[in-house]
Amino acid sequence: MTESDFIVVANRLPIDLERLPDGSSRWKRSPGGLVTALEPVLRESRSSAWIGWPGVPDADVEPLIEDDIAMQPVPLSGQEVTDYYEGFSNATLWPLYHDVIVAPEYHRRWWAAYVTVNRRFADVTAKAAAPGATVWVQDYQLQLVPKMLRMLRPDLTIGFFLHIPFPPVELFLQLPWRTEIVEGLLGADLIGFQLPGGAQNFLYLARRLAGHQTSRGSVGLRSRLGEVQVGFRKVRVGAFPISIESSRIDEISKRREVREQARELRTELGNPRTILLGVDRLDYTKGIDVRLAAIEELLADGDLDPGEIVLVQLATPSRERVDSYVRMRASIESRVGRINGEYGRVGRPVVHYHHRPVARNELIAFFVAADVMLVTPLRDGMNLVAKEYVACQGDRGGRLVLSEFTGAAHELRQAYLCNPYDLDGVKHAILSALTDSPEDARRRMRAMRRQVLSFDVSRWAASFLRALTVGPEAGHTLVRD
Ligand code: ADP
Ligand code: G6P
Repeated sequence: MTESDFIVVANRLPIDLERLPDGSSRWKRSPGGLVTALEPVLRESRSSAWIGWPGVPDADVEPLIEDDIAMQPVPLSGQEVTDYYEGFSNATLWPLYHDVIVAPEYHRRWWAAYVTVNRRFADVTAKAAAPGATVWVQDYQLQLVPKMLRMLRPDLTIGFFLHIPFPPVELFLQLPWRTEIVEGLLGADLIGFQLPGGAQNFLYLARRLAGHQTSRGSVGLRSRLGEVQVGFRKVRVGAFPISIESSRIDEISKRREVREQARELRTELGNPRTILLGVDRLDYTKGIDVRLAAIEELLADGDLDPGEIVLVQLATPSRERVDSYVRMRASIESRVGRINGEYGRVGRPVVHYHHRPVARNELIAFFVAADVMLVTPLRDGMNLVAKEYVACQGDRGGRLVLSEFTGAAHELRQAYLCNPYDLDGVKHAILSALTDSPEDARRRMRAMRRQVLSFDVSRWAASFLRALTVGPEAGHTLVRD
C-alpha cells in the first residue's frame, strides 16, 4: 500500500467481511452512524486511506480499494474480538459512556487486550502515513492510539473524534484506567466531542487526573476551543456535532421511484391512517423498549386505535454475543409479541418488527412513508436517524418525537421532545405529534430542515479538519487547580 497524506483510523472498516455457510465470503456495509458519516467524507478526498478491522475474527485480508476508498485491514484474533471489542469496548466503555444504563464490567484481561489492539492500530497507521500526514482517529475503541502514534511518528498531525457521549466526570472516575485514557487522548492535537458538555468534562479531567494546565472558558459549538498544555504542546478540545449527507438524502427522497416505493409500503401495511417508525441498531441505549411501552399503554388506554396505526420497527443486529444485548433482544421481541397478541388481527399486526439491515434507498422510502418518527434513546451521542428522517421530509410535515438525551435534540429543538425515563411524557409527546395541526407540524419540520440541510456532514468534517490544521489560537489563559 502506498503512503497516504490523510488517514482515517476507526475500529471498523466501512465494509464488513461476511462469511457465508458455503465457506465463501463477501463484503457488506458495516452498521452504525460512524460509517454513515465518514464514508462520504473519505469518498471525496484524494490520497486518503481508511484503517480498520474487517469485522470478523482472524481475517487475513489484503489492502483493497472499494468505492474509491483505499482500505487497510487490521486483523483481530477471536480472543481479541472477545476481550477488546465485545469486552472492553462494548461491555466496559460503551455502557460507562452511556450513563451506565447497564452496569459496566471492569476486567484487567479486557484492558490488556485493549492496550494490545490499540498498539496494533498505531503501528499499522505509523507505517501507512506519509511524512507530515494528517491522521484522524475515531471513537471510543481507539482512545490510546493518539499517544501511541505520536510516540512513533511525532511528525504527524493527529485528530481524535469521539462519536459517543463523553460521560459525567463522576461516572468516568469509576474506570480503573481513567488516567491512561485521558493521557492516550492527549496525544492528539485536537480532540473533538459532539457537545460542549463533553469537551468541558474532558478539560476538567485533564486538570484533575493528569495534572495539566487547561483553559477555563466555556467551549462553543465549532468555536471557542479549549486548550490543554501538555509539556511543550498545546492540545485543543472542541465540540463538533456530527451530521449526514443531507442534500444527497433529500435528493434521493424526492426521486419518483422512492416515492412510489413509499406508497407501496403503505399499501403493504394495509393503508393505516398513521405509520409510526423506529430505525435503530438493536442497542439498549436506543430506548426501543421505551417506545414499545408507550405504544402499548396508549393502546390499552384507548388513546390509539389498533385499526388505525401501525408501528414499523427496523432493528439492525448489533453486538450479538454481548450478554446485555442478548437480554435486551429477548425482552423487546417478547413485548412485540405481546402487543401483537393483544391488539393485532389476523394478517394485521400492530407492530412490524424486522431484525435485519435495510438497503439505503429502501430505508429512505420508509422515512418518506412514516408519519411519525420515534427516536427515544436513553442516551445517544448524536443520533443520525433523527437527522435522516428530517432530510427525507421535503415539504411534508412528518413529525419527529425525539429524546432530550440525544445530541440531535440540541439542534432539532422543534421536535416533539421527551424525557425517555418519563413514560407519561413519552406518551404525551407521541399524542402531541399525532394530533398537532398539519400547519404546525410543517412549520416545525421546516425549521428542522433548515438546520439539517445547512449543517451537513461535509461541514462537520471541514470544521474539524480546519481546526486541526490551523495552529493553536493565542491568548488563552491556562490554569491548574
Ligand atoms: P448508531 O451510530 O449508534 O448506530 P445513529 O443513529 O447515529 O446510531 O446511526 C445509525 C445509522 O445506521 C444511520 O445511518 C441509520 O440509517 C443506519 N441504520 C440504523 N438502523 C438501520 C437498519 N435497520 N437498516 C439500515 N440502516 C440502519
Ligand atoms: C456506534 C459507534 C461506532 C460503531 C457503531 C456500530 O456508531 O459510535 O463506533 O462502529 O456504533 O457498532 P459496531 O460495534 O457494530 O461497530
